[in-house]
Amino acid sequence: MTQPATGALPQRRLVDPAATRSVYPLLGSLVVPRPIAWVSSRSQSGIDNLAPHSFFTVVSTSPPIVMFSSMGEKDTVRNIRATGDFVVCGTPASSLEAVNLTSVEFGPDVSEFDAIGLTREPSATVASARVAESPYALECRLVEIHPMGNGLVVYGEVTCIAVDEAVLVDGRVSIDLLDPIARLGGSDWSRIGEVTTRRRLTVEEFMSVT
Ligand SMILES: Cc1cc2nc3c(=O)[nH]c(=O)nc-3n(C[C@H](O)[C@H](O)[C@H](O)COP(=O)(O)O)c2cc1C
Repeated sequence: MTQPATGALPQRRLVDPAATRSVYPLLGSLVVPRPIAWVSSRSQSGIDNLAPHSFFTVVSTSPPIVMFSSMGEKDTVRNIRATGDFVVCGTPASSLEAVNLTSVEFGPDVSEFDAIGLTREPSATVASARVAESPYALECRLVEIHPMGNGLVVYGEVTCIAVDEAVLVDGRVSIDLLDPIARLGGSDWSRIGEVTTRRRLTVEEFMSVT
């Protein structure tokens, strides 16, 4: 790999988080695109809650564990604390308007499923409902809620992965059929653009091509 010539290094603006009122907009614009977890949870009184979270990823595959971070104690976290489970549902481009509407800060007595007109689908292993309009659902049992800065990081072990056969081609997930939306900075969203394929190289292959 060739290094850029001296003098060609970028002019960087340095941002000191400690001296900045909020780095949230900047971080949100830089750490992109973010997949969206449409988190379904059920309150102790049986209200089905649904909210998008883009601070979300897989943290372990064996056992499978996912995480999302809530900026403070909201209905989603309160429900999961109380009941111990949740479901991460996929967000296809066709669901963008509905996903956005589920971020409205309804009170805990309002089910976003009913307010927005989404279909509950029973889960196989947890009480929280799947979203029938989602191409996949990760049913999760709460592992831990870990306070981190102003975030509450929710870790869940995936107890069932339910994938709509309609997004599978020869048993594999088709990215075109999954058609996920991602979160960008501000109020921006995006779809998957051009897809290219590169296999990871072995060290020997690396040595032979460089
Ligand atoms: C695309 C998108 C991504 C979001 N990601 C997060 C997130 O990662 N963490 C968070 O706390 N709020 C996030 N929000 C805001 C929550 O969805 C919003 O506060 C919601 O009302 C929380 O619902 P609840 O009170 O039912 O938990 C996001 C909103 C949108 C539209």
